[in-house]
Amino acid sequence: MTLDTTHINQRRMPFDDHDEIWLFGYGSLIWKAGFPYHERRPAHIEGWARRFWQGSHDHRGTPESPGRVVTLISEPGAICQGMAYRIDAATLNPLDVRERNGYLRESVTLHFPDSSHAEGLIYLATEDNAAFLGDAPLDAMAEQIANTHGPSGSNRDYLLHLAASLEDLGAEDEHVFALAERVRRL
Ligand code: BEZ
Repeated sequence: MTLDTTHINQRRMPFDDHDEIWLFGYGSLIWKAGFPYHERRPAHIEGWARRFWQGSHDHRGTPESPGRVVTLISEPGAICQGMAYRIDAATLNPLDVRERNGYLRESVTLHFPDSSHAEGLIYLATEDNAAFLGDAPLDAMAEQIANTHGPSGSNRDYLLHLAASLEDLGAEDEHVFALAERVRRL
């Protein structure tokens, strides 16, 4: 499978007839949008667990030394907390390019703290993409994250930023917090 998912994503538009859509961020989008938006609200999605299982060759690592960034794994009963952005549909085009390293658009239901919900999109890296790394012992993942850098900065900063943003949201995430604790000790 090709690493560059830009063109696949531009054909995957389940909200084709919508001018505005909700995009759910569960990784770097929580603290840094880098695109225009109309509204930003904490939200969660159900049945998905956040995991540092996707390789990063282009942002937090290199092809020779890939970093680890988050994707979502289907897990009944799991809850993933993050940040929802209401954006113009056209705003997805540059995002498709930025997140071209294996991520595909996927539809999800977003749940807001006031119990309302909306249909939206996530960028999801599934296990059949070429950059997928999958599970590994937490100590090994922490070691890899602590020692990897890419054009967007260190993999360590990405993890610690994510952990701090989740703490600010009051979110629970055993996987992220356990990795952050290990990386701080290294
Ligand atoms: C996110 O923050 O939701 C995200 C960012 C890049 C790729 C995938 C997800």
